Amino acid sequence: MKNELIALKEKAAESVVKALTEEELEGLRVRYLGKKGDLTRILKSLGSLSPEERPIIGGLANEIKEVITHSISDKKKVLKNQGIDKRLKQESIDVTLPGRQPPIGHLHPITQVIQEITGIFKSLGFQVAEGPELEEEYYNFDALNLPKSHPARDEQDSFYVSSDKLLRTQTSPVQIRVMEKQKPPIAIISPGRCFRRDAQDATHSHTFHQIEGLAVDKGITFADLKGILHVFGRQMFGKDTQTRFRPDFFPFTEPSAEFAITCFKCHGKGCRVCKKSGWIELGGCGLVDPAVFGFVNIDPEIYSGYAFGVGIERLAMVKYGIPDIRMFYENDLRFLEQF
Ligand code: DAH
Repeated sequence: MKNELIALKEKAAESVVKALTEEELEGLRVRYLGKKGDLTRILKSLGSLSPEERPIIGGLANEIKEVITHSISDKKKVLKNQGIDKRLKQESIDVTLPGRQPPIGHLHPITQVIQEITGIFKSLGFQVAEGPELEEEYYNFDALNLPKSHPARDEQDSFYVSSDKLLRTQTSPVQIRVMEKQKPPIAIISPGRCFRRDAQDATHSHTFHQIEGLAVDKGITFADLKGILHVFGRQMFGKDTQTRFRPDFFPFTEPSAEFAITCFKCHGKGCRVCKKSGWIELGGCGLVDPAVFGFVNIDPEIYSGYAFGVGIERLAMVKYGIPDIRMFYENDLRFLEQF
């Protein structure tokens, strides 16, 4: 029986060494140490031994039981650790790889130009005012001294949503809204979206942007208007920028002018950007017509003011050399990413 026990111990030790999985080890545990296992069977048969042999064989059997139990549990630990190592290798991530950069957007070039212009006028003491894009005919035309019969309405063919409401064709109605609410002194600028029923081409879009300016106070003259646009031109396009005013007509200003700056590319010599003229036209301006003051109850005998309007798209197109106005609205990233 002693030999049988030693043989069993060796066989068990060998099987444990060979075992490759935790399941196999569990099988060995049942086979040797389980209720019907080999060792249990030997222990149960101790009764048939002589009283001298019994404690010797019994002691040996218990010793072997300990050895097998430990060797199985040690091997289980080894296999478990190997499994963890393997998984760690398989599932490892290379933390030294550079991270994936989320795409970061930026402001639309039109917004950038608007912010640049508003920034300049804010620094000159102007406040930013807003008006609705869906405007009443009264503000868009009538109160700007453009009565129903006025031929200048034809130039601003509009999107009417009812007989007296339309998508505004200009930012000028904000002038009226501001003067209705606020008493002079007034100094505001108002950037925003405008709409006209124009056929689309490289220089026309049914949706576009303007920036309006208005200042009303005692003693304002055309010299103030020239001064402020001169300062604006220099801040926006550089110190040696000159400003030019030529007579024009707008129903809500008297006198009216069209203003231009010397070309920022050729500085007045004449180039492709300014179409060889040396000048770039930026918009319209003038002194607020007394008839407009009549609509907002400001006394033209006491107050006077100037107003101006600049087309944003046109300005951005000459500034960046953009050949087609439609590029602003197509949301083509190859275009937008350049700004
Ligand atoms: N609203 C005019 C237009 O869309 C531009 C304009 C001209 C605005 C003269 C003004 C101004 O404030 O005084 O053509």
